[in-house]
Amino acid sequence: MTETPPTDHGVATEPVDYETVDRRVLVVGAGAAGARTAIELVERGVDPEDVLVIGKRSHGDAHTMWARGGINGALGSLDSEDDWTIHAADTLNEGHHVNDPAKVETVTRRMPGLLRELDEWGMEFTRTDDGDIAQRYFGAQSFRRTAFAGDYTGEALLDTLVERAQELSIPYRENVFVSRLVADEGRVLGAVGTDLDTGEFVVFDADVVVLAAGGYTGLYGRHSSRDDENTADGPALAYQAGAALTDMEFVQFHPTGMVGDRYGADWDGRLVTEAVRGEGGRLFNSEASASDASGGSGEPGAPGGERFMERYSPDQMELDARDVVARAIAEEIDEGRGTEHGGVFLDISHRDRAFIEERLPRMYERFAELGVDMAEEPVEVSPTAHYGMGGVVVDDDGETDVDGLYAVGETMAGVHGANRLGGNSLAETIAYGAVAGEAIADRLPAPGGDSDVLHDRARVHLRDLRALSNADGDEEPEALLDELRELLWERAGILRDDDGLAAGLDRLERLRSRATDLAVGDRTSRSYEFALNLGFGLLGADAVLRSARERTESRGAHYRTDHPDRDPGWRRNVHYRRDSVGSPRLTTTPVEEPSEPVQTALDADHELDYHQLE
Ligand code: FUM
Repeated sequence: MTETPPTDHGVATEPVDYETVDRRVLVVGAGAAGARTAIELVERGVDPEDVLVIGKRSHGDAHTMWARGGINGALGSLDSEDDWTIHAADTLNEGHHVNDPAKVETVTRRMPGLLRELDEWGMEFTRTDDGDIAQRYFGAQSFRRTAFAGDYTGEALLDTLVERAQELSIPYRENVFVSRLVADEGRVLGAVGTDLDTGEFVVFDADVVVLAAGGYTGLYGRHSSRDDENTADGPALAYQAGAALTDMEFVQFHPTGMVGDRYGADWDGRLVTEAVRGEGGRLFNSEASASDASGGSGEPGAPGGERFMERYSPDQMELDARDVVARAIAEEIDEGRGTEHGGVFLDISHRDRAFIEERLPRMYERFAELGVDMAEEPVEVSPTAHYGMGGVVVDDDGETDVDGLYAVGETMAGVHGANRLGGNSLAETIAYGAVAGEAIADRLPAPGGDSDVLHDRARVHLRDLRALSNADGDEEPEALLDELRELLWERAGILRDDDGLAAGLDRLERLRSRATDLAVGDRTSRSYEFALNLGFGLLGADAVLRSARERTESRGAHYRTDHPDRDPGWRRNVHYRRDSVGSPRLTTTPVEEPSEPVQTALDADHELDYHQLE
């Protein structure tokens, strides 16, 4: 469409060209959560031609691919005592009881059925000897509950969903970057984006928009995702449209990321799956242990170091909660007991080569390519930002405060509380994809948002985008993003305190001002994409820093050195929303109580018996 020059809206007058796409349901994000939502919609009778899934990358390439170790669901394949209530109790315990119990229940109740359904759709699960879906140990889970496909579970899951979506003729559009949602009077009207292949602008006119656009840990100096994903796109888009964010201070640091000084900068922070520890991997520092003068476990291949988790968590050892293991590793490194490259050792060489090749094939191959034989020697790891527990406030169906705007997967908040169980992220994508798809199909609003308002608002944003492309300023967007990452790593990392968070906010203000003077290429350039990511990132970082400052206690992944204890009075969620003049405002609300069956499972106090792994 070419715009008629506006006469009475008070905006710049130069016309702007764009394509208009009209769909009843627009899904922004083509990973597991987006795909699963679209599948549910079509399976429930919505015409595929009324749906469009858009991704900012090529079809089938999403962050889901990098989720490795598994997907949780209480199937009881190997431990028949397990059931969904114990899965829910483990999730609440790991989340330090600031999760939304209703959402936890939704996910854990549904997962066994949803795993069976994935199996029927052909997902390549690893099997038990008698052919059932195998399940492995994962951190802080009472039983073997994590179903998996080797150590490429996310890849296998996404392949399955893409194939299913293709069978259902669900339309996808690749390489479109959505930079703004349009909402009016509390209802979503559509979205505005740029086709990164052609540089053309696109306005999506939609009755329902589903945000499945990931989280925000790509804003940290060391992170497990690729550099241009998880830059807070989903939370920022929702916030700008009028939805509230919550729990943004809770950022999970995965204990085992690759160490760049050992494996090269390109690999810095990339995930060494928890499955390595779930299959028996052990952590060592570089000091000879007092109990074993020869160092390490004394077994062939074990590094000559102390198995330090004995000091931090003698019962659950390497499979304690991620926050506990990550802080332990950070402490070992800070106190000078790390490796010369700034990590600690992770060793699984006591397992047979064939076992490692079968259970951990991608890890085995990747390290082999880097000249390390996991069957003979340890690898070096240190913590890396991995998952944002916070995100968009949604109701039990995944709908935000803005009518017709949904958020699913890592973009939404509520399931994980202060810390997430490994294997629950893929579970949430599938469970909430199904829940939101079902809710939308049941009550798809009649078409008829105000198209004039959509196009007027879209044009205002498109003029900003036009000014951004080819902007001739002094600051490189990628360099500012890197500075933002350093800032969050230093000021809102594994350990935080008020002084550091306040200093982080001051530095953020300076970055924000520099970000008004960008040097940007055309709309197909990487610098244009980085500039858009930077805009989201500045907002996401503000939410993290302010929320972390607000929570004056330590809980789960949020560790305040100036408030080192958990405070029962803080069993509340911190919300970050826009006030009437457009500034962020923080409020808190208390957490709901779990249902009776889940409370019974909590009272039973189940716990992983680590020694089964030895
Ligand atoms: O370590 C992992 O494989 C990660 C899994 C998860 O975060 O769920």
